[in-house]
Amino acid sequence: MNRKVTVVGGAGNVGATVARAVAQKELADVVVVDIADTKAAGVALDIFQSCAIEGSAARVMGVGTKDFSESANSDVVVITSGMPRKPGMSRDDLLNVNYKIMQEVTSEVVKHSPNCIIVPVANPLDAMSQAVYRISGFPRERVLGMAGVLDSARMRTFIAMELNVSVSNVSAFVLGGHGDTMVPLPRLSTVAGIPITELLPADRIKAICDRTANGGAEITKLVGTSAWYAPGASAADMVEAILKDQKRIMPCSVFLEGEYGISGLFVGVPVKIGARGMEQIIEVKLTSDESAALQKSAGAVKELVDVIKV
Ligand code: 2OP
Repeated sequence: MNRKVTVVGGAGNVGATVARAVAQKELADVVVVDIADTKAAGVALDIFQSCAIEGSAARVMGVGTKDFSESANSDVVVITSGMPRKPGMSRDDLLNVNYKIMQEVTSEVVKHSPNCIIVPVANPLDAMSQAVYRISGFPRERVLGMAGVLDSARMRTFIAMELNVSVSNVSAFVLGGHGDTMVPLPRLSTVAGIPITELLPADRIKAICDRTANGGAEITKLVGTSAWYAPGASAADMVEAILKDQKRIMPCSVFLEGEYGISGLFVGVPVKIGARGMEQIIEVKLTSDESAALQKSAGAVKELVDVIKV
């Protein structure tokens, strides 16, 4: 195919899910890069063989981090490397160890694919996206953190469960950092265009918002490690929006320069995604409560980026 997507950390659960979705949707050839080199080769071969069944012409190869050159000139690089959470850990507990990994992999990504768009996925997501942005030296349009797509997918699912309606009818919006302070916005979440505030009592809406904010921890507790199907599908959805130049509005963590009253920080906001990456930040007028919650969430991200000084 004439497009290439590299998934760094692609032999892990999230990475392999992204690689498989990109190959299955026939979006691009896929290079799986992982420190676990033989596992990368095996996972890639397995996915490649699944393409024969699924009717995809995508080619998939897997290499170790010493063979990064195989990823050269990728259109999109998804970085899923990093330690996942264990039960009881917060995303923030991963800060220092994953920052070190971002330093190692980002310089390789930039060296081999200087024109790519990077989609960081590692936690704590907003701080890691900021680290990747600073290390890469890329313009802000080409670093888009994956979080809001996942958080809003969780909120959509909980709304659909509560109302017993198809999740395809449900649209949900979650702003802020990908942590406990994320800001689900019921006012802008709808079922077939009807705000959920018209359909559900306040206590049920609050329960949905709380469950959304704890969505990752809920799965970590049940499974014993971080989620991967929904995070992987979310990153692949962003890759699709980029490669197909879809101009879709998706919540992503991007570097804000005054938008929403926030400067110099990666925070999740609605973004138009297309071939150039982040093509526009959509500014929505927030109520004073929503705005205060967003500022609080940005403050939590700032505490982390201050620790690693990025
Ligand atoms: C989650 O929320 C992995 O942070 C990710 O499940």
